[in-house]
Amino acid sequence: MTVDYNTVFKRSIEDPNGFWGEVAESCHWYKRWDKVLDDSNKPFYRWFTGGEISTCYNALDLHIDNGRGDQAALIYDSPVTDTIKEYSYRELRDQVAGFAGVLASKGVSKGDRVLIYMPMIAETAIAVLACARIGAIHSVVFGGFAAKELAVRIDDATPKVVVSASCGIEVERVIPYKPLLDEAIRFSSHKPEVCIIFQRTMETAELIPGRDIDWAEAMVSARPHECVPMAATDPAYILYTSGTTGVPKGVVRDIGGHIVALKWSMKGVYDVNPGDVYWAASDIGWVVGHSYIVYAPLFQGCTTVLYEGKPVGTPDAGVFWRVISDHGVKTLFTAPTAFRAIKREDPSGELIGNYDLSRFKSLFLAGERTDPDTLKWAEAKLGVPVIDHWWQTETGWAIASNCMGLERLKVKEGSPTKPVPGWNLQVVDTDTKPVPVGEIGALVIQLPLPPGSLPTLWKNDEGYQKTYLDEFPGYYKTADAGYIDADGYVFVMSRTDDIINVSGHRLSTGGMEEVLADHPEVAEAAVLGVDDSLKGQVPVGFLVLNAGVTRDHGDIVKEVIKMVRERIGPVAAFKTAIVVQRLPKTRSGKILRGTIRKIANNQEYKTPATIDDPTILEEMTDALIKIGYASGKK
Ligand code: COA
Ligand code: AMP
Repeated sequence: MTVDYNTVFKRSIEDPNGFWGEVAESCHWYKRWDKVLDDSNKPFYRWFTGGEISTCYNALDLHIDNGRGDQAALIYDSPVTDTIKEYSYRELRDQVAGFAGVLASKGVSKGDRVLIYMPMIAETAIAVLACARIGAIHSVVFGGFAAKELAVRIDDATPKVVVSASCGIEVERVIPYKPLLDEAIRFSSHKPEVCIIFQRTMETAELIPGRDIDWAEAMVSARPHECVPMAATDPAYILYTSGTTGVPKGVVRDIGGHIVALKWSMKGVYDVNPGDVYWAASDIGWVVGHSYIVYAPLFQGCTTVLYEGKPVGTPDAGVFWRVISDHGVKTLFTAPTAFRAIKREDPSGELIGNYDLSRFKSLFLAGERTDPDTLKWAEAKLGVPVIDHWWQTETGWAIASNCMGLERLKVKEGSPTKPVPGWNLQVVDTDTKPVPVGEIGALVIQLPLPPGSLPTLWKNDEGYQKTYLDEFPGYYKTADAGYIDADGYVFVMSRTDDIINVSGHRLSTGGMEEVLADHPEVAEAAVLGVDDSLKGQVPVGFLVLNAGVTRDHGDIVKEVIKMVRERIGPVAAFKTAIVVQRLPKTRSGKILRGTIRKIANNQEYKTPATIDDPTILEEMTDALIKIGYASGKK
């Protein structure tokens, strides 16, 4: 039976109290809320004030109490270590309760921060859920970030404890994590009291006596900890994301709204029921991993797959189909780049035929716009609905999607379909006036944001207002530009800031520019996201050197590439830079990034009227041709 999308959407906007209050009834509360939507301190809206609830209880214990204790809660599938391990709800709860006891024995309690820097292993989910069990605020940092980035997050979150592992595995390479962690703690002003290290068999980390403890040893004597009831409005976690500078923003998620919204999304957006197997092929270090590897599938009583590997090369482009077939996955969620990687290795989709995909019902893609080629290929080869859906770290769940649990709408290529219930999406101009249908403007969300989205930034209410609320009064700025067509379909076209998406990973070109500018021989630098057929976008750096520098340009380029890798991390995928005489600028000194990007992407461009010196564009084109970009179309 389908549910009419328009009716559900309209109700969610016109009667948020009724809509979300009803969803909240299906969750476990220690104390019922006083108010569903609390708008007493605008623009800081809160959800379920007065209510007391536990994230961990709703994710684990509730299902055991309801008879699902023996059902698989989590399947760890790691082709890079040749391991498949299943945890029932009871087993996972016991591990989580044990580790919660370890944290508590180290003095961690309600409101304390715990930073988690881990690879994709089951212990990462266990650590996250253990924090939720005792009301500690976790902050997971993606393993591909370098020590400096980790240090910035340690200083902002000021964790009492850091949880890490001896190493991660990138296809066949073992990446020791402990030296990175030690270096980060050397850099940081805040020093965590305790580091708990999970030793993996392929690498043994050296422990620092008095500070570091071994996960396995600590678990032997752990006393299981019960769930601690928390205020619905308390923070569940902090997740740092790229902002417009090198300083990341600490996105906060609150507890009650998070549980309610994610639970609704499992049925409403993904059409997934208790007992179904759900797989988000992402990383717990990203928001997709928080919401859809750990939390939402467990809130819904599903089995979640935690995958340590890549879409190709571990061992081949058939591995996604192998996982789907082995575990009976109903819904897969990943980034389009993963599908481009698979399509490149196995264009005819031959490997799909080797596996039984009969239980597979839908593919969801996010992180970047799904390009029509990838959409058509996936639809044709898999024969299931392929759903592009749009969201952000800040929103925590989808803003626009084809809601499979409501009514399945027609797919329009290049569109993530329509706003999801709860999201009052509008398109406005710079004066916050609605733009005509079909015209591009700023994509903004009328306040209040629905539950599960960010209530603020960590210890930075002012930054929250400045970054998201000030530019369009009464609205949240997504920093995406786009339009809504006559049928109400949303089209997300581009970011309005310097954020780029590389392999579905969000990065700030401003942050990379700050690193380049630190090179002693670089006078000025620009970094732009240029189109890439595999990664969506890749960063390309332009360097203007100080007068009188005679050193080999190739050496300087190598040095800046190394600097970005060491300061931001390999995940930045910063591999291309070029020395230029000068950068194209407006007469007021603004770098013409849009024009350079168009040249690099072989798009037609007009010489901007405000340009300081038009001849520079020819120089730019020549430089880009030298590094394999641009054809000089004008
Ligand atoms: N720890 C340490 N290093 C890491 C890392 C981690 N957790 N994750 C990535 N890296 C490294 C990679 O090894 C690579 O290093 P290299 O420059 O030495 O080769 C670099 O960071 C860039 O990684 P990535 O962008 O992932 O490129 P890739 O070539 O290894 O793989 C894809 C390309 C498309 C296969 C891969 O990015 C992918 O599977 N993407 C899926 C998208 C995804 O999960 N998005 C999250 C949001 S849904
Ligand atoms: P992140 O915070 O890493 O999830 O990145 C969020 C940004 O990724 C958004 O603001 C968009 O620019 C982009 N994005 C994510 N999903 C989509 C999508 N389905 N279509 C277009 N852009 C997307």
